[in-house]
Amino acid sequence: MNFARTGNWLSAVWQDRHAMVAYDGKTSGVLPNNMYNARIPRPRLPEFTCLVIPPDRAVPGLVEDVREGLLQPPRSLPPKYFYDAKGSWLFEQICRTPEYYLTRNEDALLAEHGRSIIAEARPDQILEFGSGNSHKTRRLFDACEQTATRCSYAPFDVCASMLEAASETLQSDYRWLEITPMQGDYHAGLGRLPPASGRRLAVFLGSTIGNFTPGDALGFLREIRSRLKPGDYLLLGVDRIKDKCVIDAAYNDGRGITAAFNLNLLRVLNRELAADFNLDCYRHRAEFNETRERVEMHLVCSRDQRVQLRRMRETIAFRKGDEILTELSYKYTWDKAEKLLEDAGFAVARHCQPTNGYFSLLLGRCN
Ligand code: SAH
Ligand code: TRP
Repeated sequence: MNFARTGNWLSAVWQDRHAMVAYDGKTSGVLPNNMYNARIPRPRLPEFTCLVIPPDRAVPGLVEDVREGLLQPPRSLPPKYFYDAKGSWLFEQICRTPEYYLTRNEDALLAEHGRSIIAEARPDQILEFGSGNSHKTRRLFDACEQTATRCSYAPFDVCASMLEAASETLQSDYRWLEITPMQGDYHAGLGRLPPASGRRLAVFLGSTIGNFTPGDALGFLREIRSRLKPGDYLLLGVDRIKDKCVIDAAYNDGRGITAAFNLNLLRVLNRELAADFNLDCYRHRAEFNETRERVEMHLVCSRDQRVQLRRMRETIAFRKGDEILTELSYKYTWDKAEKLLEDAGFAVARHCQPTNGYFSLLLGRCN
């Protein structure tokens, strides 16, 4: 596989799409197997601007994270820096690869069970964490239409451009939906989220909970629980432990899109820190560690390289073979997924899986 060529091809597509449509999601995808089809243009609706959610506790910024995690081994960076506009677009493409079973399985579960979930939770507000393009959440809005439920939608994400594009697309398809996109970092606390009256359904999809260590996952779900009231619900998507080959393929797609996504992190550093990472010197490596029940994703330096971070007045000397840990993705068993939800203070109201057991969709109730 020629990563360089794949990377160029992807870059060309990215630039092309940006020049034309500022990726408003209204053109059909560039890859075959496009789940989300082109729509007939309708009159433009007002554009959305995100409500910025300020941190309610101090969280390190990029400079501190780099100082803490990158300057000396073991090197690592928090995953939130993946999701600039280009990273979010690449993630959408990952979700469409044939290898990435997570999105398809979760989407099918939402399509099958969305109606009964909405009928049980009867939400006045759907509050989604790490909402991305909100594509799968459409299954819940469809279910609202089928059950004559009307609710508002508050998507919360770190990526403003994705939130705004997603809100516009959603609004044109669900005119009744009151959407408040909220931009912020969910690690910085949830205390500044606007209060909601009525019943809430919190939603956390995509197995993003797997990108937290188990301890942090519990802490985060407890924090969500503390913002909810009895009678509110949490809908959680969790990826399951399965054959290592299946998992490895999902994080090493044949077109190199996951590799491009991983490498984009270095482009973010080059832009934000006036750094000079040479992307040709790094390669993507992702593997399911069966003992630790997690995918470990790295960027591996393939030759000695000195990197300048001009904005920080720092230089890093990388040796051939040095690695940067860029993402962990924990996988759960059926029982561990339920235990996580229960330990966070929810009662398991529903737990769905596809026949292959690849994915879990859990509905937790606040008692
Ligand atoms: N829910 C979508 C997207 C999952 S990818 C899906 O299932 O397809 C993870 C999402 O979480 C991205 O949209 C990313 O921008 C967002 N995200 C990552 N770290 C975040 C953080 N610290 N705070 C808020 N959002 C974050
Ligand atoms: N929540 C996703 C997952 O763990 C995030 C993800 C998918 C991801 N593919 C990735 C993160 C590649 C970094 C690199 O599956």
